Amino acid sequence: MIQPVILCGGSGTRLWPLSRKAFPKQFVPLIGGKSLLALTLERVAALCKGPGHPGVLCVGAEDHRFLVNESLEAAGVQGTALLEPVARNTAAAMALAALQAAGPEQLLLFCPADHHIPDEAAFCEMVRNAARAARQPGTIVTFGVLPTFPSTGYGYIECGEPQGDTSHRVRRFIEKPNREFAQELILGGKVLWNAGIFLCSAGTLLEALAQHAPDILTRCQEAMSGRTHDGIFLRPAEAPLQACRSESIDYAVMERHDNVRVYPFRSAWSDVGSWNAVADMTEPDEQGNRIEGQGVAVDSRNVYIHAPHRRVVALGMEDVVIVDTPDAVLVTRRASAEQVKAVVAALEASQ
Ligand code: GDD
Ligand code: MG
Repeated sequence: MIQPVILCGGSGTRLWPLSRKAFPKQFVPLIGGKSLLALTLERVAALCKGPGHPGVLCVGAEDHRFLVNESLEAAGVQGTALLEPVARNTAAAMALAALQAAGPEQLLLFCPADHHIPDEAAFCEMVRNAARAARQPGTIVTFGVLPTFPSTGYGYIECGEPQGDTSHRVRRFIEKPNREFAQELILGGKVLWNAGIFLCSAGTLLEALAQHAPDILTRCQEAMSGRTHDGIFLRPAEAPLQACRSESIDYAVMERHDNVRVYPFRSAWSDVGSWNAVADMTEPDEQGNRIEGQGVAVDSRNVYIHAPHRRVVALGMEDVVIVDTPDAVLVTRRASAEQVKAVVAALEASQ
């Protein structure tokens, strides 16, 4: 039995002005009116069948409790929401989930809440194929995607010896290298992008944390021994989490652990990291224009318009992205759309 754990406490702002601190990327209705969190829940629903299944565990922020609950209800998936009073990144979020698991042998599938993987069946098959390896004590399974450019926003997995099925032992895990290093890794020809999805038993993760990040584990154990449950939400104690170091699982464990195995994921996968990625998920017309809502493109090519509230017209435009919201509008060339995160940081600093 595999219990999906959805990590949905991040503050993704790369889809500004639609995503905000109070309404991060994973909650924004993006694809067919559904949020990436809702689509993630739908994707893992097939893994939650069978008597005695504990359902999905969503680990997210206290401030987003209603958004998390609504998503669970909308997806029709049985689940529990574990709410963090403060965000302490993915190492702590995963530790809390593992401490909540039914026992050390419970297999946990950690999934980001902000990815788009259209082929649900391929995803579930990939996970089920990897379950046997993940049951071996000490083994952490990751999933890898073939890189298409030297991204500095992903972790890289260098593949070692093949393991007899489709998987490889991980020789090296490199979280978010700089561009030169990323280029070098890709030229080496043996790397995959880390898809950010992990499969292992609760006991294996807790032991790995004890070995590589014992302080994070201790704070999370303290937080969980002081937890409360009001029938809907599960809340770890605040003080130990406040005192916990904030680090991603990639730096805290994956770069250090010596028993990591990678399964290639060959189906479409996107971490929806920019408006270009969203545009690419929208069906183009003959001129390459992609329109959502009330947008209209006249005498234009390769224009993306997101306009759920009112008419937005692009006239004689090429290669631009226009995103309209009630209190802010983004207009950018496609080539600059990756820089939105920096703009948001600058806006925040100037307030
Ligand atoms: N509960 C909780 N608490 N969830 C969190 C927290 C937290 O403090 N911080 C982040 N998350 C959630 C995010 O909402 C997202 O769903 C997931 O954890 C991953 O966090 P990101 O912040 O989006 O990570 P990233 O995209 O920069 O990098 C990770 O994912 C890449 C693939 O998209 C890494 O694992 C990379 O190696 C990987 O390539
Ligand atoms: Mg991400």
